Amino acid sequence: MHYLNLLPQADHQKVQALLQEKAQWLALGKKGVDRFRLSHESVQHIRAKRYDFSGDVVKIGGADELSDQDRKKVYKAMRDYMPWRKGPFNIFGIEIDAEWRSERKWNRILPELPDLQGKIVADIGCNNGYYMFRMAHHKPKLVVGFEPYLQHYFTFKTLNSFAGKENLACELLGVEHIGLFKESFDVVFLMGILYHRSSPIEALREIRTAMKPGGILLVESQGIPGTKPVALFPEKRYAKVPGTYFVPTGACLANWLSRAGFAQVQIFFSHQMSSQEQRRTEWMVFESYEDFIDSREPTLTREGYPAPIRIFARAEIPS
Ligand SMILES: C[S@@+](CC[C@H](N)C(=O)[O-])C[C@H]1O[C@@H](n2cnc3c(N)ncnc32)[C@H](O)[C@@H]1O
Repeated sequence: MHYLNLLPQADHQKVQALLQEKAQWLALGKKGVDRFRLSHESVQHIRAKRYDFSGDVVKIGGADELSDQDRKKVYKAMRDYMPWRKGPFNIFGIEIDAEWRSERKWNRILPELPDLQGKIVADIGCNNGYYMFRMAHHKPKLVVGFEPYLQHYFTFKTLNSFAGKENLACELLGVEHIGLFKESFDVVFLMGILYHRSSPIEALREIRTAMKPGGILLVESQGIPGTKPVALFPEKRYAKVPGTYFVPTGACLANWLSRAGFAQVQIFFSHQMSSQEQRRTEWMVFESYEDFIDSREPTLTREGYPAPIRIFARAEIPS
């Protein structure tokens, strides 16, 4: 059964047309696509006998499950998907230490995690699916990941072809397509996305239309310290990252959520970012947090802006 059948209010015609367009593009044999598609296909015959999504490390398959030849193929495919931004993973015994210690973010979410059992969930900007696997441990009916970048999309597809979780789906779609999924989701995760939107309120309003009455939104965002409801708008880059628009304080994020029509808005956690949590590893060999921050004044970014904090919020759609 296609998962869209679990989303009766979604605009099936438009979603199917978009997905077909993406599928046709993937089939064109372009270099940029085939780079990842061929890695995916090289390990398509492999299925894991076991997985474990209950702990900090997402584990799929055991080292004892593969022949030497298949182990080499899996290792090569995993290296082809570098740089790994989110993790950690253990894939058939291969330890993948990603740039981000994503388990820390998940552990901060856990105290506020609604009961996911039997729920329809969206993970917007799901990257390689690290959090989707962690969600799968809580027995949702379906998790749909929205991820427009090929590298992450194919990484997830490959990991899930090993794990075979039929209630996890990822599409090459973005938050800008969420409005096509009218009243579809019980729980939406929006982590690491809002400050990349030039219109954060519009994004939140559209997300609201995709949620069922009584639905819960969990937001995690980069932010700046302070108690006033203001957002930083960097001239070009923030912490060296282009495409960063509004970086809010906690109070500002709470106001965005309220003014976008959400109820019961709460900021439930915030913390200073650090190079313990985001760093260069063997699986991500480029610049990382310590390169983004002023080496003499760690409260400032390289551009002289306040160094980032991370803010966690929860909000509801009235029933
Ligand atoms: C900063 S990462 C956050 C990943 C993950 N949600 C987390 O919190 O660790 C942003 C993710 O959003 C994806 N992304 C980029 N453009 C997007 C869009 N228009 N809609 C949804 N996701 C997008 C990126 O490819 C990336 O995986």
